[in-house]
Amino acid sequence: MTSLTILVTGGAGYIGTHTAVALAEAGFRVVLLDNFSNSEFSMVQALRSMVDQEVPFYEADCRNKSDLLRVFNTEKEKGHPISGVIHFAALKAVGESVEKPELYKSNNIGGTECLLEIMKEFGVHSLVFSSSCTVYGEPENIPVDERSPFLPSESTYGYTKQACEKLIENHAEENGEFSSALLRYFNPIGAHPSAIIGESPRGIPNNLIPFLCQAVAKLRGPLTVFGTDYPTKDGSCIRDYLHVMDLAEAHVKAIGYLFEIVKGKGCRAFNLGTGTGVSVLEVIDAFERVTGEKVPYTLGDRREGDVVAIWANAERAKEELKWETKRSLEQGLNDSWNWQQKLSEN
Ligand code: NAD
Ligand code: UD1
Repeated sequence: MTSLTILVTGGAGYIGTHTAVALAEAGFRVVLLDNFSNSEFSMVQALRSMVDQEVPFYEADCRNKSDLLRVFNTEKEKGHPISGVIHFAALKAVGESVEKPELYKSNNIGGTECLLEIMKEFGVHSLVFSSSCTVYGEPENIPVDERSPFLPSESTYGYTKQACEKLIENHAEENGEFSSALLRYFNPIGAHPSAIIGESPRGIPNNLIPFLCQAVAKLRGPLTVFGTDYPTKDGSCIRDYLHVMDLAEAHVKAIGYLFEIVKGKGCRAFNLGTGTGVSVLEVIDAFERVTGEKVPYTLGDRREGDVVAIWANAERAKEELKWETKRSLEQGLNDSWNWQQKLSEN
C-alpha cells in the first residue's frame, strides 16, 4: 500500500520538524515547505537524518500562490498527490506582532487564505491547523475547555490565530467535503530525546524555557521571573507545559482523525496540554532538580499582556483523538537542556 502524503508548512521550524519525524514514524510520506523566516536548512537536514524516507523540501512562502502551486503540482506529477496539510507556517513573536501588525496579519492570515485556496483547487480536504491557547485570553474558568469564548486579544499574534480559526470554519461551511482540526497548543517545551532536532530561537528568546536554558549556559544574564505578586500559589504565573514530542504525536492522531473519522464534517477544536498548571518558580525548581544545574534568576515586574494562569482541560483530545501527554515536565526540561548543551558545543 502506498502511504498518504502529508504537506507540512513551516516544516523547518520547531514543532514542524518534530511532527515530521512523528509522521514518518507513523508511516506517512512527508513533504516540507518553509520560507526560512524563522528557521534554517540545517534543521531539515537534521530531521532527514532521523527518518528512513526521502523528505522532499520546498523553499516556498504560503502567501505566494505560485510557490504553493509548484509544491502541489510537483508532488502530483511525481505520483504522490498531497492528501492532507498540517499548517504550522506563521510568525509567532508576540511582542513583534504588536510592533508590526500588518506583517503578522498578511503572513499568518494571508498565508492561510492562500493555502485554503490552493487546497480547494487540488481537492485536498483535510487540514490540521496550529492554533494557540492565546485565543482564550484570560479565561474565566480554568482549566479552560474548548467551549470557552474567544476574548479580545492583547496582541496581533493572538488576533491572527482567532481570525485563522474563523477563516477555516467559514471555508468548511462553504466546502462540504472539507474538515479541519484546530489544535490549540498550550506551552510546548523540550526537544527530541536524541538532541538531533530542537528549538533554535533567533535573537533573545521571549519564551521561558529557551531563555532559562541560555541563562544557565551563561549565554545571557540571569532569567527574570516576570511577576511574583500574582494571585497564585507562589505569586508567579501558571502555565501548562507539554513536551514537543507529545505535541508532535497529537498531530499524527489529528490527521488520522480527519482521514478516518470526520471526513467532511467541518471543524473541531482541541486543547493540547497536560491538564496541569505549573508556576514559573516551580519550573525553575524542577529544572534544578532534574539537571543538577543552578538557574541564575531575579524576581522582576509583571510582563505586559501576560495572563495570570491558564491550563488545559484536554478531555476532548483524550476522548476523540485518543491522545494524551505521556512525558513529564522533568523530561521536557531535561531534553531542552540536552539540546541547549548541544547548541552550545557548536
Ligand atoms: P517556528 O517559528 O519554529 O516555526 C514556524 C515556521 O514557519 C518557521 O520555520 C518559519 O520560517 C515558517 N514560516 C513562517 N511564515 C511562513 C510563510 N509565510 N511561508 C512559509 N513558511 C513560513 O514556530 P513553532 O514554535 O514551530 O510554531 C509552529 C506553529 O505553532 C505556529 O503557527 C505557531 O504560531 C504555533 N504555536 C506555537 C507555540 C509555541 O509556543 N511554540 C504555541 C502555540 C502555537
Ligand atoms: C507566549 C504568548 C503566547 C504564545 C506562546 C508561544 C504572551 C502573552 N503569550 O505564551 O501567545 O502562543 O508564547 O510563542 O506572550 N516568563 C518569565 N521570564 C521570561 C519569560 C517568560 O518569567 O524571561 C514567564 C511568563 O511570564 C509566563 C511563563 O514564563 O508566565 C511562560 O512564558 P512564555 O514562554 O513566554 O509563554 P506564554 O507567555 O505562556
